[in-house]
Amino acid sequence: MKFLSTLFGYKGWQGEQHATMSLSRQILLTAGRSPKMLLVTLWSSLLALTAQSVAQDYGTSPPVYPSPPGTGIGWEAAFAQAQAFVSNLTLEEKTQLVTGIEGPCVGNIGGIPRVGFDGLCLQDGPLAIRQATYASVFPAGLTAAASWDRYLIFFRGLFLGAEFKDKGSHVALGPVVGPLGRSAYGGRGWEGFSPDPYLTGIAAEETIRGMQQSGVQACLKHYIGNEQETQRNPRLSPSGTTIEAVSSNIDDRTMHELYLWPFANGVRAGTASIMCSYNRVNGSYGCQNSKTLNGLLKTELGFQGYVMSDWQATHAGVPAIKAGLDMDMPGSIGSSRDTSFFGGNVTHAVQNGTLDQDRLDDMVKRIMTPYFYLHQNEYPPIDGTEPTLNSDHPPYQHPFTLGASNVDVRSGHGQLIRDIAAAGTVLLKNTNDVLPLTTPKTLGVFGNDAGDLVNGQYFLTSAFQTPFGYEYGTLPVAGGSGAGRLSYLVSPLEALKARAALDGTLVQYILNNDLVTQPSGLGAIMPVPEVCLVFLKSWAAEGSDRRSLEADWDSTAVVSSVAAFCNNTVVITHSAGLNVMPWANNPNVTGILAAHLPGQESGNSIVDILYGAVNPSGKLPYTIALNESDYRFSDITNSTKLLRTEDPNAWQSNFTEGLLIDYRHFDYYNKSVLYEFGFGLSYTTFDVSDLSVDKHNATINPLPEDLPIAPGGNPSLWQILCTANFTVANTGNVTGAAVPQLYLSFPSVPSSIPTPRNVLRGFDKLWLAPDESQTVSFSLTRRDLSYWNVKKQEWVIPGGTFVMSLGFSSRDLRLKQHLDVVG
Ligand SMILES: *[C@@H]1O[C@H](CO)[C@@H](O)[C@H](O)[C@H]1NC(C)=O
Ligand SMILES: *[C@@H]1O[C@H](CO)[C@@H](O)[C@H](O)[C@H]1NC(C)=O
Ligand SMILES: *[C@@H]1O[C@H](CO)[C@@H](O)[C@H](O)[C@H]1NC(C)=O
Ligand SMILES: *[C@@H]1O[C@H](CO)[C@@H](O)[C@H](O)[C@H]1NC(C)=O
Ligand SMILES: *[C@@H]1O[C@H](CO)[C@@H](O)[C@H](O)[C@H]1NC(C)=O
Ligand SMILES: *[C@@H]1O[C@H](CO)[C@@H](O)[C@H](O)[C@H]1NC(C)=O
Ligand SMILES: *[C@@H]1O[C@H](CO)[C@@H](O)[C@H](O)[C@H]1NC(C)=O
Ligand SMILES: *[C@@H]1O[C@H](CO)[C@@H](O)[C@H](O)[C@H]1NC(C)=O
Ligand SMILES: *[C@@H]1O[C@H](CO)[C@@H](O)[C@H](O)[C@H]1NC(C)=O
Ligand SMILES: *[C@@H]1O[C@H](CO)[C@@H](O)[C@H](O)[C@H]1NC(C)=O
Ligand SMILES: *[C@@H]1O[C@H](CO)[C@@H](O)[C@H](O)[C@H]1NC(C)=O
Ligand SMILES: *[C@@H]1O[C@H](CO)[C@@H](O)[C@H](O)[C@H]1NC(C)=O
Repeated sequence: MKFLSTLFGYKGWQGEQHATMSLSRQILLTAGRSPKMLLVTLWSSLLALTAQSVAQDYGTSPPVYPSPPGTGIGWEAAFAQAQAFVSNLTLEEKTQLVTGIEGPCVGNIGGIPRVGFDGLCLQDGPLAIRQATYASVFPAGLTAAASWDRYLIFFRGLFLGAEFKDKGSHVALGPVVGPLGRSAYGGRGWEGFSPDPYLTGIAAEETIRGMQQSGVQACLKHYIGNEQETQRNPRLSPSGTTIEAVSSNIDDRTMHELYLWPFANGVRAGTASIMCSYNRVNGSYGCQNSKTLNGLLKTELGFQGYVMSDWQATHAGVPAIKAGLDMDMPGSIGSSRDTSFFGGNVTHAVQNGTLDQDRLDDMVKRIMTPYFYLHQNEYPPIDGTEPTLNSDHPPYQHPFTLGASNVDVRSGHGQLIRDIAAAGTVLLKNTNDVLPLTTPKTLGVFGNDAGDLVNGQYFLTSAFQTPFGYEYGTLPVAGGSGAGRLSYLVSPLEALKARAALDGTLVQYILNNDLVTQPSGLGAIMPVPEVCLVFLKSWAAEGSDRRSLEADWDSTAVVSSVAAFCNNTVVITHSAGLNVMPWANNPNVTGILAAHLPGQESGNSIVDILYGAVNPSGKLPYTIALNESDYRFSDITNSTKLLRTEDPNAWQSNFTEGLLIDYRHFDYYNKSVLYEFGFGLSYTTFDVSDLSVDKHNATINPLPEDLPIAPGGNPSLWQILCTANFTVANTGNVTGAAVPQLYLSFPSVPSSIPTPRNVLRGFDKLWLAPDESQTVSFSLTRRDLSYWNVKKQEWVIPGGTFVMSLGFSSRDLRLKQHLDVVG
């Protein structure tokens, strides 16, 4: 895997822009700024809000049986191999293949030496092979989404996949599209991409294609409605009653148009596996919900791979299997290794006739098809260090072949990591062109997020199980199973010192937030720096939702304190999700950069942006509201009453906002925001012109049913029905990347829930030299132009006129075209 970048032609971000933009000086002389076009509109009335909260009777999930057997469509040769393979197995061996066991990896399927099968090694997670040594820590999904760059997202998946493979891991437990990001407080939103399903769908597709081209199986997770960490699992009340996990109660249209949407992209991209989630959906657990597994996933989306449970998310054996669960992870019930809902129970259930042998065969075929498809029967051995890293030591019940220890799998991936981190950094404010920096004589660096780590390089240990993580040290990634063990970290301060030294710039710094916020706490700084950089962070981790949307560690006081002293203050945030920015309009805050979670090259990537070696091109994959209270419309369910409940069924999260999350909410209710979805500045300016829309394939309703369902659902949904062509031009003086965005406004749709005013349906990232322009073409598929009709149980293109708007953010829409798609 050493030559992946050559093989796939990754030039590197710098390479891409090198011809015209390698000299930051060029920018310094010429940078032009795009004034932010903020749509200032009326606040919605409370009345409107109430009127639109339509009461739903969620009832319980309807039964959908039997579980549809895989047919291997798209994977025909591998399916035939899997069929032959299963025909050669004993009942006990089949059971073994669907049941996790102890072993060297986070999840393990035992080998069957008799048939030359070495077993499966499953490892976390979405941004690194989590616990491994000598592996890379990539930017988080959130950062990748903020790049809006398919090309970089694909390479992120490809290089991640290569590291899993070189460590002998067959399955990478990622990417994440659930949580989608219903609530800004969600503790795991950063592991995934964006609350916009279209952007998330494309990011998932590119990641999966990249990972699987490396030869590793992707596991798209967590299916579905896993939108909060609070009460994600059942727990015992003080009096010993089992209080069931939170139930995400989601209406059918919202399910299709929001939460299921990116899973459809992932299935279409050929994801080998899907992980079902901890939460309940309409009252049934995610790993035994026949409607979501047999119905939506395996019938409607035509998923041909296997469903594995999240760790301890299995709550039954045969009922879960009949509902569509194919693999139980980690295989044991709680910590008692000798018991399993699967294992001996599955063997017994087949023997006594409770479970059809055919269904068990289907489970094995679903598991083995992607294995053969990706040629995993010839695979590198598991890194010898893994058992120690997982603290799960041999001898095991089943043999695992271990290879050399501490294999270095990083293969120069640091450059891509640096490029994605810079590409996912969003420039939000740049008063009087404070950025890029021009050989400042003095630079101040403030805040506990600027320096190196002091509590270690691996965020899974107990030291990190606090609501705010660790106090000192920059935040490259957040906590939990989605973290990574850093083999190195370039801190912002370290990289800034190195860069400043080239110009002889004096660098002064205070990293103690307590001191910064004290009166005269900045007394040691002399002279007042020309530019003060304030580094803020906000922590989140699996298992615990965020408590505040402001950056942590007294961030607002830190910014006020520095800005009171320094009238050229640039704030940089590293955060596991979005931040509200109460200080954004302070006139002394002249620059703001949302740098998200950059991974191991943090300092280098921010220096690239600050000094203009890379022109910022990241765009917000979410909305920054004016006030934290603006996000209350889709809150985490966690009232104190619920925390003390004795009612097993008390945890109900009704998704009454329906489709109106993130920008769909703010747009629908005409609410002003601080920085809108899709927004981000550049050191140059762009414009769009000549929007034309072409319609194809006139016979379009109803949806053709003659084609067999393929992975991703009815193939007609992916048919291109219209094309939007336009021209993008760089109107500034330096090379930079534009992200033109197409939003679609639907005609009136018959539905009991409100339809968003605008939805994203096209984007691309283009590097353009000054005065250069390029023609761009966006294709819209049938799915893009349809709404989910609950009564017909089908995607339908509404009659009437669509409005297509093109621009550079969800509120900077410069061109419009009207289009009647039907008729
Ligand atoms: C481009 O540079 C010229 C000359 O330096 C300057 O006059 C002009 O305002 C710049 N244009 C933009 C859009 O920044
Ligand atoms: C959720 O919806 C159900 C069904 O409409 C309703 O009975 C229940 O009170 C709602 N729960 C909450 C917390 O709003
Ligand atoms: C959940 O309940 C709603 C309301 O009855 C229904 O529209 C939807 O299809 C159900 N979804 C699942 C997965 O059961
Ligand atoms: C069954 O396994 C044996 C080895 O025990 C092997 O020789 C044979 O080819 C296998 N058959 C199939 C169909 O895989
Ligand atoms: C079978 O499942 C039950 C729970 O349904 C569990 O208590 C039991 O230990 C399991 N048996 C084995 C052999 O794992
Ligand atoms: C068959 O076996 C399963 C798994 O051990 C068990 O749960 C079920 O009760 C058994 N059914 C009968 C009819 O024996
Ligand atoms: C801005 O900075 C100046 C010092 O240059 C200071 O006098 C002023 O109070 C600051 N304003 C704010 C709002 O902090
Ligand atoms: C900003 O601060 C610098 C250095 O303290 C000072 O020279 C300058 O006058 C200030 N500018 C404004 C507009 O306050
Ligand atoms: C934010 O909203 C809360 C509650 O509506 C209000 O009390 C507070 O003053 C607002 N803060 C700002 C900065 O507008
Ligand atoms: C938002 O503004 C539009 C256009 O002015 C208006 O038609 C609509 O009723 C407003 N919506 C709300 C919820 O206030
Ligand atoms: C129209 O649909 C057919 C398949 O149904 C597809 O092959 C063709 O590319 C479509 N036409 C255009 C212009 O997209
Ligand atoms: C739009 O662009 C496509 C591909 O570049 C081209 O085939 C088509 O003719 C263009 N349509 C219009 C109306 O310009």
